Amino acid sequence: MTVVPTPRSWQRRGGDLLLGPVVAVFGGGDAAGVLAEHLRRSAGVRFRDVAVPSEADVSFAIDETLGAEAYRLDIDERVNIVSGDSRGAGWAVQTLLQLLPPEVYGPGPMEPAHLRLPRTMIEDAPRYSWRGSMLDVARHFLPMEYVLKHLDTMAMHKLNVLHLHLTDDQGWRLPVASFPLLTEVGGWRPGTLPGHQPPPDENDCDDVAHHDGRPHGGSYTVAEIGTLMAKATRLGITVVPEIDMPGHMEAAIAAYPWLGACDHVSHPRTCWGVSEHVLQLSRRTVDFCTTVLDEAMDLFPGSPLHVGGDECPDREWLTDPISRATMASIGATTGKAAQAWFENLICQHVLDAGRRVIAWDEVLDGGAPEGTTIMVWREAQAISRAAAMGHEVIAAPAEFTYLDHHQGTPGHPLSIGGPLTLQKVGQLHTVLDVPASSRVLGGQFQLWSEYIRTPARAEYFAWPRGASVAQQLWSGTPGGLDSLEGFGHHLRRLTAADINWCRSHPDTTSSTRGAFDAHNH
Ligand code: ACM
Repeated sequence: MTVVPTPRSWQRRGGDLLLGPVVAVFGGGDAAGVLAEHLRRSAGVRFRDVAVPSEADVSFAIDETLGAEAYRLDIDERVNIVSGDSRGAGWAVQTLLQLLPPEVYGPGPMEPAHLRLPRTMIEDAPRYSWRGSMLDVARHFLPMEYVLKHLDTMAMHKLNVLHLHLTDDQGWRLPVASFPLLTEVGGWRPGTLPGHQPPPDENDCDDVAHHDGRPHGGSYTVAEIGTLMAKATRLGITVVPEIDMPGHMEAAIAAYPWLGACDHVSHPRTCWGVSEHVLQLSRRTVDFCTTVLDEAMDLFPGSPLHVGGDECPDREWLTDPISRATMASIGATTGKAAQAWFENLICQHVLDAGRRVIAWDEVLDGGAPEGTTIMVWREAQAISRAAAMGHEVIAAPAEFTYLDHHQGTPGHPLSIGGPLTLQKVGQLHTVLDVPASSRVLGGQFQLWSEYIRTPARAEYFAWPRGASVAQQLWSGTPGGLDSLEGFGHHLRRLTAADINWCRSHPDTTSSTRGAFDAHNH
């Protein structure tokens, strides 16, 4: 039996424990609720609470000495779960579910006699505390129903951070009461570029002519974000909103043209690539950003905030009179210095509110503000560079974790580039072990959505490669998940959960061909 990610230690006792149609449970809180929900839905099992552990079929207890997210799952005459904290209890439940037939992940019906657990003692704890997945819901809007399903798939793999890329040139998905046009105007574009982005020199930045004429958009409501947060908390997952600034802001500029340093953005961008229409450099735009961040902090209580910082061209800052005046007043003569000024104000604002602040690795170029967590995407070497500079680091290197690149399978769908094979994803762990590795919090996979228009397509690109990322972040090793064969039984779980995972094998000739192109996100 394959448990994904692989537990740290596992002793088999021999024999089985059959769960009855009514399970007596002691403690467990949300973790017990998640177990009850799966077994009720798939096999009609009922759970009842009991007041003392000795009467329980499944009992939960906390022992903080085990450490964060750690758990011991002891299956013998009954099931005893001891965990370092409530998250650890949740992970114990996910392991327990994997010891049952794959159908527990589906809607059933199952034969209750199949609810047999192997008698076993598992002791387990994660290698890294940040095990994430990023969904880009800006380039193509993904409905909340799918995001909620994605949380379940994350939990199955013990992934504990959902990073939502909520804003970009092509769409704004975050409700902001102080600036309602961000979603009303910035949430909708008149069409989308069909096919691939033309090369940069043919790339008309204002791109009105080339789109398909089909309006695309959407945004989340405050109530939907509340539902998301409640479900994520129940599953032990932190949701991190990203508001990308000061570049990648064309949708916001379309909504409020005074935010920009040009006079001709009338709708969110319809093509891809890096827009030169960035925020004007001024106190007024900084105030806009801090207001948006304050509202995001209210909507995502306790969450770290991601403030973007990637791919911000400085051309407009060097020509726009107000931006130039700002640069003169702060003594900045280059775009890098100007961005460093902006990042300092923004990151400090989030830190002053007592939250973790995260930015893409471009902020290192101008000297990242102290206390900023760096998310490395460009070159894996920046992981050790950022750690050596005293920053905490999250590894998101494009080379291993940009799952919007195709998988090297024959007839693969249109994608931004590739191939990024399972075998290559399976090498992520090699770039995490760096000097000062205690500052490497972990890593995450990225699903940029220029070419991902639907939930089914998102699943196709995310799985099973996302499971390989999860495996490495939990256990530090690929554990055989660098080939489809290595997944064995686990693939049946993905099928039972109705996940449209990529079933084909790579075409080895194409997987050795093709340059990797990580740009234009
Ligand atoms: C990125 O891919 N621009 C973070």
